[in-house]
Amino acid sequence: MEIKLEHVSKYYDRKILDDLSLELKDIHALGIIGESGCGKSTLLRLLAGMEKPEKGSVWVNGTLLQGKAVKEYQKEIGYVFQKHNLFPHLSVKENIVLILNKIKKVPRHEAVRQAETMLKKVRLEAAMDKKPDAVSGGQA
Ligand SMILES: Nc1ncnc2c1ncn2[C@@H]1O[C@H](COP(=O)(O)OP(=O)(O)OP(=O)(O)O)[C@@H](O)[C@H]1O
Ligand SMILES: [Mg+2]
Repeated sequence: MEIKLEHVSKYYDRKILDDLSLELKDIHALGIIGESGCGKSTLLRLLAGMEKPEKGSVWVNGTLLQGKAVKEYQKEIGYVFQKHNLFPHLSVKENIVLILNKIKKVPRHEAVRQAETMLKKVRLEAAMDKKPDAVSGGQA
């Protein structure tokens, strides 16, 4: 994976990211370390195309995250929210099926098959039919 940031600034009520530039190539795993509230999740939202910088540009694997490219890019990535934002009234499995079906347009029966396969792969088959608040934070 490749990440390139060019003079990225992000503001909320104050400046969170200030003229950040970096270029990383051949990344397999990357840890972003910093004190609480310093802007790590903000940076991840920019890298996921969920937010736009006030200034500068963000590139991932050669794609400039701007305009129409963002939607296509988002079909290819996964993002685990700090607050995991699962639907509380749906089972663990149905939370996965819903996204595959609505966002990726996978037919429902195929989405169920994929969800079950993935959940088994990460040894969560016993949690499949539980609601998100009945599993641990890490499992959720
Ligand atoms: N949507 C928002 N509106 C206003 N301010 C925000 C918003 N999101 C984050 N902030 C502020 O931006 C700063 C950076 O937040 P961010 O969530 O990126 O921090 P973090 O480094 O991920 O912290 P933590 O380690 O606690 O998860 C914080 O001061 C936070 O209060
Ligand atoms: Mg955070």
